[in-house]
Amino acid sequence: MRVAVLSAEAVPFSKTGGLGDVAGALPKALRQIGVDALLITPCYLQTKGEYLWNVAVDDLHVNWRDRTIRAKAFYSEANGSPTFLIDAPEFFHRSSIYGFSEDYERFAFFNRAALVLLKRIGRAPEIVHLNDWHCGFGAVEIAHLRYWDSYWRNTKTVFSIHNLAYQGGFDAGELWKLGFSSDFERNAFMFNGYASAMKAGLSVSDMLSTVSRRYAYEVQQPENGYGLDWLLRSRANRFVGITNGVDYDVWNPATDEELPANYSIHDMSGKRECKRALLENFNLPVDLDRPLFAIVTRLTAQKGIELIQQVAGELLATGAYFVALGSGDKIYENFLQKLRDYAPRQVGVYKGYNEALAHRIEAGADIFLMPSKFEPCGLNQMYSLRYGTVPIVRAVGGLDDTVENYDRVNNRGSGFKFNAFRADRFLEKIYEALFVYAEPETWRNIQINGMKIDNSWQNAARNYLRLYNSV
Ligand code: ADP
Ligand code: GLC
Repeated sequence: MRVAVLSAEAVPFSKTGGLGDVAGALPKALRQIGVDALLITPCYLQTKGEYLWNVAVDDLHVNWRDRTIRAKAFYSEANGSPTFLIDAPEFFHRSSIYGFSEDYERFAFFNRAALVLLKRIGRAPEIVHLNDWHCGFGAVEIAHLRYWDSYWRNTKTVFSIHNLAYQGGFDAGELWKLGFSSDFERNAFMFNGYASAMKAGLSVSDMLSTVSRRYAYEVQQPENGYGLDWLLRSRANRFVGITNGVDYDVWNPATDEELPANYSIHDMSGKRECKRALLENFNLPVDLDRPLFAIVTRLTAQKGIELIQQVAGELLATGAYFVALGSGDKIYENFLQKLRDYAPRQVGVYKGYNEALAHRIEAGADIFLMPSKFEPCGLNQMYSLRYGTVPIVRAVGGLDDTVENYDRVNNRGSGFKFNAFRADRFLEKIYEALFVYAEPETWRNIQINGMKIDNSWQNAARNYLRLYNSV
């Protein structure tokens, strides 16, 4: 089966969050089970030159507004699968990957260029797997093209929601300028008086998926559906949840090259070394017996940072360390800075994006906090499990599906889980975790339970293959 995966970001070429991890790993995992998968993603200013192996095509002619743009496509296999990177500097050579008022245009162009490339390659994919709102445009183009271009006649689309909160909304007056002028195309995009790329993808794709089973349920409820719950309910028989996997080639404490010491379930001594190095890294006094809490996250309301704000005082009063790596909303960055200034011997903060540090924190921390408001899947809790870092999570979306609350009677469970979005409930779990941390034998059991869990991509890839086959 020939599958083309399209994504706005993919590791190692680009990444702002979990979408990058997923899109980078899925094509490789699909190939390992015999699927002829390739990836198409933009070539950003931020994409490292070492990953661009050669120019595959240097004359991609893309019809765009009232002109034709000549784009290039680089070729690479740096992520373990054939990848084409669309190079069009006017759209993708920017100071950041997202965040521009014309983002909708940039990704509309990306989709159109990807389809021109797929036609140029010469064998139409049977499945085009589109990810998040950035690829809603491609779903509409293919649904439209199938009727008048025999090349696309047998191509089906699968559209995956990674985060329904971002919908790619824009002025409906732009639709015809972008070339979406038929009633069919217009109807696909129209949503409450404006155009929504997410709604378009959800309306016209042959199959829909999202990144955990629990989130698939949640987004069909009015409280979490951002106005699109009705559409998802109406397509419920074509909508599945497939939990993301972990790329253990990248996230494995036994082989991770970013770590000062490696370790595994059989010999955990390296983890103590990682903790020591992390404390030194943040200029904190080294007391290896004191528990170390951590977060690695985009600093947005989604991640429940306000709950961390509310419990920070109590957490520090226990004497524990707290280390944070994140960037995003100024209000949260300022909170972290203030916390660090208030308790410089207990708190370490790195504001920004730092891949290597993310690995070192996963390894060096004892307890990982993810009190998210909502969480389609979440990857960090799964990385934490593998690194023997016990997660405290809120029971939503993928966090609920991937972490089992610890039950000391039966010695079952891999972390601590609370339900209501309330500081007192969160704090209760923090205290419970600290209580258990003080019993090294019990703590070790939780760590081992988590480290044994197999969240590899193999499983998820098989489920995607089943999904592709179903269309
Ligand atoms: P989301 O995609 O909503 O941000 P996920 O948990 O799915 O959440 O994925 C987040 C990914 O981004 C993880 O790989 C995490 O390590 C990484 N990440 C988030 N913030 C940072 C940061 N400031 N520096 C380095 N990596 C980060
Ligand atoms: C989104 C979600 C996150 C998920 C990631 C990859 O960014 O916020 O929960 O893990 O996509 O699917």
